[in-house]
Amino acid sequence: MALLIKTDIDRGDAWAEALAANYPELKVYSWPYDGDPAAIDYALVWQPPEGELKRYPNLKAVFSVGAGVDHLASDPDLPEGVPVVRMVEPGLTAGMSEYVVWAVMNHHRFMLDYAAQRREKVWEELLQLPAEARQVGMLGLGVLGRDALEKLKPFGFRLAGWSRSPKSISGVTCFHGIGGFDEFLAGTDILVCLLPLTPETEGILNAEAFAKLPAGAAVINVGRGGHLVEKDLLEALDSDQISGATLDVFQQEPLPEDHPFWEHPRVFMTPHIASMTVPETAVRAVVANIQRLEAGEALQHVVDMKRGY
Ligand code: NAP
Ligand code: GLV
Repeated sequence: MALLIKTDIDRGDAWAEALAANYPELKVYSWPYDGDPAAIDYALVWQPPEGELKRYPNLKAVFSVGAGVDHLASDPDLPEGVPVVRMVEPGLTAGMSEYVVWAVMNHHRFMLDYAAQRREKVWEELLQLPAEARQVGMLGLGVLGRDALEKLKPFGFRLAGWSRSPKSISGVTCFHGIGGFDEFLAGTDILVCLLPLTPETEGILNAEAFAKLPAGAAVINVGRGGHLVEKDLLEALDSDQISGATLDVFQQEPLPEDHPFWEHPRVFMTPHIASMTVPETAVRAVVANIQRLEAGEALQHVVDMKRGY
């Protein structure tokens, strides 16, 4: 049994060591691979070049290193009939919830204002609002959105969420579909995007959506850069309809040097690090899934390629 791995961030030998510890019989090859393509049974990949996966005629499954699979769905030559599995693992989930809690607090506690005051050497106390005065609205009630909402609960924010299908989550006002979108936005003071990027969700953070939020709302995008119409956000920030944004993902990554976000005083940015897959915990999920398939059982977290997530 052989697995080909292509990860993005250099974690040294962490992936190979974790795989060897959890599945010693599995042969592991790192990309680029110049051996016999027919010998590869599984691929664990992040952003493979288009057409790459088609080279392996005996692939039984493709595992995405990330939760998002837009990097695979955009490949016109993705081998047909080979299941694609998204990453669901506790390290990635925990990291995202840490980031979302921090980013919500960043806006709730006026940290962009205090950063501006610091630059100007201004010492001024801003009136703090209690958490229950604000509603956090989560776009996407999947593995990551739900965990982040759970972690926000103890602070006392009012919580809301929006998904494609109806949901019932204790302590969270749930909205779904196009029909629930406007009402969800109307009550949201801090908007968090944790949607997958699909043709339906592309550009969802746009001028029309910003206009439906209460004036002065904050936007946190940790989904994908393609969710945000960047010029619409800049206009909404300039008009004070949006009071600030925390952005982890961008239309073009790395962000071009001349992009206005770099200098914008109301934008806090990070370089797509909101969360990272943790090899040690991710490998357990991948190995368990391979063992399931080899035992004739169904794989978990298979992507519905027609839906795009
Ligand atoms: P998931 O479990 O598949 O959940 C996706 C959620 O989005 C579901 O609740 C789904 O609704 C909802 N959704 C999808 N299309 C929709 C639509 N058209 N309208 C309304 N709701 C829609 O995904 P996840 O594991 O939570 O991951 C979410 C995304 O986070 C990933 O796809 C990736 O882009 C992003 N991410 C970013 C980072 C980072 O570092 N910035 C790290 C990891 C992941 P249903 O429940 O009704 O199906
Ligand atoms: C990272 O962006 C992921 O999708 O896991």
